[in-house]
Amino acid sequence: MSQVKTLNEFILDKQHDFPFASGELSRLLSDIGVASKIINQEINKAGLVNILGAAGNENIQGEEQQLLDVFADNKFINAFRSGGEVCGIASEENDDFLPFENESSRNGKYVVTFDPLDGSSNIDVNVSVGTIFSIYRRISTEGPAQLEDFLQKGTEQVAAGYVIYGSSTMLVYTTGKGVNGFTLDPGIGEYCLSHPNMKAPEDGRLYSFNEGNYNTFSTGLQKYCDWVKEEDASTGRPYSCRYIASMVADIHRNLIKGGVFCYPATAGSPNGKLRLLYECNPMAFIVEQAGGIATTGHERIMEIQPTELHQRVPALMGSKNMVGKVLEMINQYD
Ligand code: AHG
Ligand code: MN
Ligand code: MN
Ligand code: MN
Repeated sequence: MSQVKTLNEFILDKQHDFPFASGELSRLLSDIGVASKIINQEINKAGLVNILGAAGNENIQGEEQQLLDVFADNKFINAFRSGGEVCGIASEENDDFLPFENESSRNGKYVVTFDPLDGSSNIDVNVSVGTIFSIYRRISTEGPAQLEDFLQKGTEQVAAGYVIYGSSTMLVYTTGKGVNGFTLDPGIGEYCLSHPNMKAPEDGRLYSFNEGNYNTFSTGLQKYCDWVKEEDASTGRPYSCRYIASMVADIHRNLIKGGVFCYPATAGSPNGKLRLLYECNPMAFIVEQAGGIATTGHERIMEIQPTELHQRVPALMGSKNMVGKVLEMINQYD
């Protein structure tokens, strides 16, 4: 078997990509790896421990918080607070951002926005879920983190990544120099490089739309959903619908096999459902670094100037030519 390269070895090898970094980013990425391994342990035995089901309260999203949402949120917050590289966090499960007051962290160089558990609706039915994160340099000069540190455009991300807790557990991340995927080897408890330099196929036959919302899609999106079903062997149609309702899992599959993911504006979610800071921006960074496109349907996701922590935007991302076809129909019919 070829030489195994662990996540930590890979991170250290790549440290020279950041000549001015003195190792904080490397340590931060390793901390995320450790926290995700702890969460992975709980997910793998979720049916046996009191970690399934609702936590009994609602988060700021208006969603019923799941026990695992809260468990994962706390694990990542503790990891970031104790690591010393992060001066504050913003997460789906916290109403406001959380500046770290402890001496070792209050002057940390970075802030992190994250979705501790993506795809919560799948926890109790044993379907893949994930974690999503973005890392930014702080803007405020000293003292506790400020709101401005979190309301940065996606183009300012220093790194972004996700963990997918699926048939295997993988950590996939980018620092702006390509995308690399690591698979957790439970035997040694290490993430090992398994998907070097991931590139999304430019074409594909998988589309990930929740067509339950078809009636409230824009005309252009309805036309696309009709077009994919037509018989046309020359374009590989009809395409196949693949929709897991865990953004991480849908996008991870589309990165590997080719595909297009879309969560547009709908009647129930007029700005789309997915959150800019800790779902759309990190996944957009990864998709673009893998050669794909990540847009709202009208503008590049990473160019949006955020105005609030939990703002939602429409998301259309994946294989370059497939997203291009959707944009063609949006431009023609909307
Ligand atoms: P979360 O569990 O972090 O709240 O995110 C769920 C999101 C995303 O993972 C997925 O793509 C989308 O919700 C699915 O929404 P629908 O069930 O409305 O299709
Ligand atoms: Mn999510
Ligand atoms: Mn979540
Ligand atoms: Mn949620």
